[in-house]
Amino acid sequence: MNKNAKELNLIVKNENPIVYSMLSKKGREIFFPKNGIIAQSAEAKDSDINASIGIAFNDDNSPLILDIISKKLKLKNKNAFTYAPSYGKPQLRKKWKEMILKKNPSLFDNISLPVVTSGLTHGHSIFKYLFIEDEIIIPDPFWGNYNLIFTNGQSTKIKKFPLFSDGFNITDLEKMLNSDGEKKVLLFNFPNNPTGYTPTTKEVEMIVEVIKNSAKNGKKIVVICDDAYFGLVYEKGIYQESIFSKLANIHKNVLAVKVDGVTKEDYAWGFRIGFITFGTKDGNEKLYSALADKAAGVVRKSISSACHLSQTFLLDAFEDPNYEKEKNENYKILKNRYKMVKKVLAKYDNKYFDPLPFNSGYFMCLKLKGVDAEKVRQKLLKKYNTGVIAIDDKLRIAFSSAPLSKIEKLFENIYLTCKEEMK
Ligand SMILES: Cc1ncc(COP(=O)(O)O)c(C=O)c1O
Repeated sequence: MNKNAKELNLIVKNENPIVYSMLSKKGREIFFPKNGIIAQSAEAKDSDINASIGIAFNDDNSPLILDIISKKLKLKNKNAFTYAPSYGKPQLRKKWKEMILKKNPSLFDNISLPVVTSGLTHGHSIFKYLFIEDEIIIPDPFWGNYNLIFTNGQSTKIKKFPLFSDGFNITDLEKMLNSDGEKKVLLFNFPNNPTGYTPTTKEVEMIVEVIKNSAKNGKKIVVICDDAYFGLVYEKGIYQESIFSKLANIHKNVLAVKVDGVTKEDYAWGFRIGFITFGTKDGNEKLYSALADKAAGVVRKSISSACHLSQTFLLDAFEDPNYEKEKNENYKILKNRYKMVKKVLAKYDNKYFDPLPFNSGYFMCLKLKGVDAEKVRQKLLKKYNTGVIAIDDKLRIAFSSAPLSKIEKLFENIYLTCKEEMK
């Protein structure tokens, strides 16, 4: 095993043997190459003659770039064209951590500095690399890409349990956590894709209780919180913070990992910027720094570093006085669509479909009765010029992308199609 990896493992083991036991084989082997090209270039950064880094510079030390690209940018060239660190821009990491704490007031300031990823999908891959060996527990339905991320071409299995059973399915969560095996890896995604469900505050308390009890009984639990749609909660009584707030400081046998980013939260889908952040009871600087080193090692080996241009853009945006205001305007647009969906649905009988519970996010699902979802989808597209997603026996409706004025028509088309298909 590499010397750097051994050193990191020693730190993690000394500071927190439980977190060490949670690391996968690959997670133990990964490290950030402290003495490699990046580190050596950083040391040479201010030298008179710097012939270290693989970036081209002009004779005056500005980046050697193409004007056709730079003239489209208002940013300083060096903040866009050069590489960002594999960990992400330090100011952005600090800012995002401050923002996490502000958006989650009950979260103790005992979490790691976030490491910048190239979107949330990349954050999941890093998580997989560090912690998953054979299985991950996920409430079903879930975002289909988890199949590719966690299982495709690998021996890992997704152990699913039904998300709903008269609200959030606490009973099956408990069974899953208390099944054989000491280490449990669990994924929560609220607001959920595809259902648009976030648990109520009461349900979150029950979830936390169940996890805490399993931890007390000796289970070592790593929970990844996929917070892609954070902040888009539309009803009172629904948990407003990330469940990470509750889990990051709950018990020494629980490591909470937050994967989030600007993709949906800040309406910047193509910027490809996400974050991975760690929290555990009694976690300390040394432990968090070693975990960040490991995460940055996976960044370095997979994409080297996330887009510098996007990181600079975002840092500027977060400091802008209009940031909160503009976000709130977008939130209102989505909330109005959500309300319209609820209003329209109230007009329909439950002959052909039942809406699954929803209260947040971008989506809602209709569970179809006696009609084939894929056939309905195809007919909707061909006959009614209406696009939705078919998932097993459900249709996923993204009200995030449908204009308010067309929501009534959208459900009318679905109802008519189901009726025709039933005949
Ligand atoms: C639940 C969930 N997580 C993660 C992502 C992916 O985010 P990104 O585009 O930043 O990789 C999505 C995108 O649809 C999602 O629905």
